[in-house]
Amino acid sequence: MLNTAVKAARRAGNIITRASQDLGALTVRNKKHNDYVSEVDHAAEKVIIETLLEAYPNHAILGEESGQSGNNADYLWIIDPLDGTTNFLHGFPQYCVSIALQHRGVLDQAVIFDPNRNDLYTATKGRGAFLNDRRIRVGKRDKLQECLIGTGLPFRDFTHVDTYVGMFKDMMQKTSGLRRPGSAALDLAYVASGWYDGFWEIGLSKWDIAAGALLVQEAGGLVGDFEGNESWLETGNIVAGNPKILGQILQVLAPHLTESLRSKN
Ligand code: IPD
Ligand code: CA
Ligand code: CA
Repeated sequence: MLNTAVKAARRAGNIITRASQDLGALTVRNKKHNDYVSEVDHAAEKVIIETLLEAYPNHAILGEESGQSGNNADYLWIIDPLDGTTNFLHGFPQYCVSIALQHRGVLDQAVIFDPNRNDLYTATKGRGAFLNDRRIRVGKRDKLQECLIGTGLPFRDFTHVDTYVGMFKDMMQKTSGLRRPGSAALDLAYVASGWYDGFWEIGLSKWDIAAGALLVQEAGGLVGDFEGNESWLETGNIVAGNPKILGQILQVLAPHLTESLRSKN
């Protein structure tokens, strides 16, 4: 199943890379405020779904662009065909393809493909995480003050903007630095690789985080919601980090939490 997902991700990557060479020719639609989607997002999702269903016709799909289809309760593929669309549309080379497989509600396989670096991140539950053919592990730093931390700034939905700015202000003073490259899936892959020691973002979608979260866990890291509990995949309020740092990130976020950002049961 991982091999099939890798094949699907590489095919999508080819479509994205070809299109990146002539961005002017793209048709772009504005879904909502600052929510752009191009024909590339759709074409990439289509080739991924075709590849997966060719091998596994009975599996269910949750894709960012086409929604949920199929009702196989055992196998659900969660797909973000192009994570970092805003970057892609501006020619900023930071975006990826993200594909995860849930088996009976548990994340089981993950593929993130970065076509700009030709980097392939993979993980299978219980078998570790890899960047290309190399095993990856989360960082070892144990002092937040020495850590590089990734995050995502609100840019579409500003419901939590004041809360977020409060978190950001605190975090920037308690770390070595913050980064906002613009693809949540790659951000999580960077935690898994030990490039960042932690990451947090408010209100992501399942397809942004499913694959990246399994990578982090299989690289020895932890994933939680803003109180360190399990509701991160449902709420999209996610913190990830090496096991020594996750609790320290939660402590910085804690004073800022509003009711709606607390764990859900
Ligand atoms: C977005 C990226 C971005 C994050 C947004 C996501 P998209 O995904 O992951 O880093 O801050 O919240 O929606 O729309 O480019 O697939
Ligand atoms: Ca996304
Ligand atoms: Ca996307």
